[in-house]
Amino acid sequence: MEYNFDELIDRTNTGSVKWSKPDVLPMWVADMDFKTVPEVTEALTRRASHGIFGYCETPPSFYDAITNWWKKRHALQVENDWIIATPGVMPALAAAVEALTSKGDKIIVQPPVYNHFFLTVKQSHCELVENNLLYDNGNYQIDFEDLEQKAADPAVKLLLFSNPHNPAGRVWTKEELQQIGEICIRHGVVVLSDEIHSDLVYDDFTHVPFTSLGEAYARNSITFSSPSKTFNLAGLQVAYFFTENEAFRKRVKEILTKWEMTMLNIFAIDSLIVSYEKGEHWLESLKRYLHENYCYLTDFCHVHLPELKVIPLQSTYLVWLDCTALGLPSSTITDRLLEHEHLWLNPGIKFGQAGDQFLRMNIACPRELLKEGLKRLEKEYKRIWNK
Ligand SMILES: Cc1ncc(COP(=O)(O)O)c(C=O)c1O
Repeated sequence: MEYNFDELIDRTNTGSVKWSKPDVLPMWVADMDFKTVPEVTEALTRRASHGIFGYCETPPSFYDAITNWWKKRHALQVENDWIIATPGVMPALAAAVEALTSKGDKIIVQPPVYNHFFLTVKQSHCELVENNLLYDNGNYQIDFEDLEQKAADPAVKLLLFSNPHNPAGRVWTKEELQQIGEICIRHGVVVLSDEIHSDLVYDDFTHVPFTSLGEAYARNSITFSSPSKTFNLAGLQVAYFFTENEAFRKRVKEILTKWEMTMLNIFAIDSLIVSYEKGEHWLESLKRYLHENYCYLTDFCHVHLPELKVIPLQSTYLVWLDCTALGLPSSTITDRLLEHEHLWLNPGIKFGQAGDQFLRMNIACPRELLKEGLKRLEKEYKRIWNK
């Protein structure tokens, strides 16, 4: 079966967060303007027509679907009893922060990075420590020297790690992961590896699960993931984490239990099982389409916006654009885009100070919308540039 990712689907007046501003083309928050896997919609329709929505167990097939997925997609052996279901990656990360730290502890993040990492630390009893990525001519690397130095502080207890990285689009190599892992083990820093984007990795790159590096790394980490980015299910709120470290599992579960966050809704359960069991073919088509969108964008920028640097996209559908040449704060650019062109992008400052010369553009939309978005970006860019 082929899938029509070109189909324009009206999402206005559906309560969509992304489409919440009238008459604005939204290319910001990380969800897609595509219908999910047809089999998922069929399963949810069947569930809806049953008409009874009482409390629901998370069945063994939920855990089987996750273990099978990681085995076939990422060559990783996960055991069913290492997995805990949660209504989101961020609630699970927040619970892990609470479970594994005490007041005054410190947590490392690697900006520019997913903005909710900052919020999670801010809302906890911990202090934020920034290990900025190194940026050199369009390339992002880990600053290992700085990481080693910061991890050596005995108050540092956790690394919140985006693997692959949002918004830099990097897929970390095995060598990079090993180096991070060694530093963290050496200094007793637990790695919370957020692998929510691990399925959206393009050809030529391979996602390496942090926990696959070896026993010591596995015991010093927790992996968080979800089918939500992969299959566009974010509104269903389904996620999970796994670790073979029983003590970590127990402590995080205690926090989730304390906050009554251990039960999933029935649509969430069905959507995970069916997407992981039936969604592979759809996912491969999606990745091809997204990559073609990315190529369209790079060609367009090369011709029409040569001063704007497109950061190579190894993973995710979130393109990171270097606007240093404009010499304006990122929020000034996004405010102007919104006001003059009715185009909604994320300002890089959202992802930390290190992101302030950047914009983040979500290209998970039909090509027609991408083309329109790029035209609007070009218009405003030129308006600023020619001043
Ligand atoms: C790195 C990362 N982690 C977590 C999330 C959100 O996960 P959830 O909606 O399951 O809380 C996102 C969403 O964009 C993300 O990019």
